[in-house]
Amino acid sequence: MALISGTARGRGRAAALRFAAEGALVVGGDLLHEEAVETQRLIAQKGGTALTPGPLDVTDEDSVRTWVSEAADAFGGIDIVYADAGAVRFGAIDRRPYEDFAFTRAELDSVWLTAHVAWPHLVRSRGCVLTVGSTAGLTRQLAAKGAPHGIRANCISPGMIDTKGTRDDLLAEEHPMRGHAEHIPLGRVGTPDDVVDAALFLVSDEASYITGTNLVVDGGWSTVLPGTLADKEFRT
Ligand SMILES: NC(=O)c1ccc[n+]([C@@H]2O[C@H](COP(=O)([O-])OP(=O)(O)OC[C@H]3O[C@@H](n4cnc5c(N)ncnc54)[C@H](O)[C@@H]3O)[C@@H](O)[C@H]2O)c1
Repeated sequence: MALISGTARGRGRAAALRFAAEGALVVGGDLLHEEAVETQRLIAQKGGTALTPGPLDVTDEDSVRTWVSEAADAFGGIDIVYADAGAVRFGAIDRRPYEDFAFTRAELDSVWLTAHVAWPHLVRSRGCVLTVGSTAGLTRQLAAKGAPHGIRANCISPGMIDTKGTRDDLLAEEHPMRGHAEHIPLGRVGTPDDVVDAALFLVSDEASYITGTNLVVDGGWSTVLPGTLADKEFRT
């Protein structure tokens, strides 16, 4: 069974129709319930099987839980989760209100909630999950927009740094990732000054030709991060 969000229109409806045509039992859902039911009707018209349990809001945990459990109950499990529903308000940083950013932030909730709630079913079926990203995630708007004004915009991505937040969490005695500190290629956890060194460089005139970059400050940790898969926390 394929669980697909956003089936009222566009890509979600197209996915529901195609998956059903390929023989999948489809459970759809959308805020626009009537249109999603119309998708279900179109599937039935072509001899497929689909169900649209009720209005779905993928940013609301209760709504996602109801949708997932009704879908699993109806067809005895879930094999595919296709998190396609979403809504964004795009725009330049100086022309859009915070409200639009806050609205778009819900995109994270919708993917996380759907995958999180459906996960136990996918574990049982050894199924698969499909999320939808965007080329927008590859752009570096601040750098592109800032360049004509002489504004440079860069990013720092620290690895494991010895701060109170890390000591209370990742480096805490019982935390499953604690052992990973031993695998940092440069042989130690980073210090706040390691990050500040990189920050000072990136804001300095020595970096006057650097914009839109992401500087990883991690002692080489990201080069061995797949080792994380060996950790029980990530395997179960
Ligand atoms: N259209 C594009 O060119 C494009 C490109 C890359 C990524 N995306 C991403 O794809 C996703 C969908 O975009 P689209 O262009 O297909 O939009 P769309 O409006 O055509 O379809 C989105 C569907 O999701 C539903 N939806 C929105 N919020 C919902 C919610 N909270 N709960 C349940 N259903 C909800 C809508 O009612 C609609 O049926 C967005 O996350 C968007 O960022 C779109």
